[in-house]
Amino acid sequence: MGKRRIEVRVPYTPHLGQKLCHVSPARFRILANGRRWGKTRFAVAEALRLALAAPVRGWFVAPTFPLSRETWTDFLKVCPPELIRDVHKGERSIALINGSLLEWRSGNDEMALRGAGLDFVIIDEAARLKQESWEALRPALSDRQGRAILISTPKGRNWFFDMFTRGQDPGQPDYASWQFPSNTNPYFPPEEWEVAQRDLPELVFRQEYMAEFLEDAASVFRNIEKCATGALAEPVAGRRYVLGVDLARLVDFTVLTVMDVEARQVVAWDRFNSVDWLIQKERIKNMASRYNQAMIVIDSTGVGDPILEDLRRAGLRVQGYKFTNESKTQLVEALMLAFEKEEIHFPPIGVLINELRAFEYEMLPGGTIRYQAPEGHHDDCVISLALAWWGVSMPRRTLSRVVTV
Ligand SMILES: Nc1ncnc2c1ncn2[C@@H]1O[C@H](COP(=O)(O)OP(=O)(O)OP(=O)(O)O)[C@@H](O)[C@H]1O
Ligand SMILES: [Mg+2]
Repeated sequence: MGKRRIEVRVPYTPHLGQKLCHVSPARFRILANGRRWGKTRFAVAEALRLALAAPVRGWFVAPTFPLSRETWTDFLKVCPPELIRDVHKGERSIALINGSLLEWRSGNDEMALRGAGLDFVIIDEAARLKQESWEALRPALSDRQGRAILISTPKGRNWFFDMFTRGQDPGQPDYASWQFPSNTNPYFPPEEWEVAQRDLPELVFRQEYMAEFLEDAASVFRNIEKCATGALAEPVAGRRYVLGVDLARLVDFTVLTVMDVEARQVVAWDRFNSVDWLIQKERIKNMASRYNQAMIVIDSTGVGDPILEDLRRAGLRVQGYKFTNESKTQLVEALMLAFEKEEIHFPPIGVLINELRAFEYEMLPGGTIRYQAPEGHHDDCVISLALAWWGVSMPRRTLSRVVTV
């Protein structure tokens, strides 16, 4: 039977950055580009190109099965239907009319990544894939000298960073890597760049949009000295105040931070290390009543919850803030932004300044940023300030995380 020649139109015209990545002959291509750059679209189009050039077997891998939906739906968008012989939605595989077979896999399960002889693999969100999963997958490319395309926004200096570094080394011609910020995609709306730069902490913007590989750990608050101005002040009739409370747990301190809502200035501050709940409650009550029945924002996680209940029963205005990894990140990032914009002010209190300086982020292997005090340091002053700031800036934000009682 003679070969059939068919004309197809692929609905994709690569932008300049994508073209550069398409023409690279490197066996391992690593794209460490910003959000919305067109990484997924590039990889899907490249997979289609490889799959049409010859009958091949290729995999799409993502850190989880739900995440692999990105390349799956994009592939179906880009691939002309007349090229498809079979689609298996459940297990996610597609057979093309030239005999190529494309399969989608989750990187969660290392065992399921072993064994297959592959002509290529595309890894989406590669920086969030476990190193073990990449190591399990890599030998599958050996028999057929298969290619790999790794696409991701950087997530710290993990194995993906090592791969990226190889791609920058002229002594390793099998590897090529790129690092394009989001706005090198001509389809990326310029106003989106400005909004992201304004609304995200600099650190997050640098990672997600500028595509920087952040250090594994570094300090998070900028402009500390510039914000450390003004003095403590007595309550003024008619003014609104917020009281941020971080409760002492076992060995740390209770810290009370009172902020003037309009002036965005810390006007009262107290730190003591009594773990006696009765004493803690008394001091919170006194402080709130002194500052015109200040609205209290308190860490209501665990033992904080009954304390919040007691304060409410005593007739005080209280908002609870429940801590999870995610909600702590939100709380700290809101405070980081306030420092970056120099919107917050507090008297130069030594222990507070020291805690702010020491406070750091840590990049977890999965690419999540965790904010915390370094080993052996406290973060009570920072958290108390962050809770007060949350209360002060609340009207401008969604209240979904705050439990009103
Ligand atoms: N060459 C192109 N032509 C037209 N539109 C494009 C092109 N490349 C990307 N886009 C569009 O830009 C948007 C982002 O593309 P894509 O999802 O591939 O980016 P990404 O870098 O994978 O983003 P994320 O970081 O969110 O995963 C999509 O709406 C996509 O359709
Ligand atoms: Mg993508």
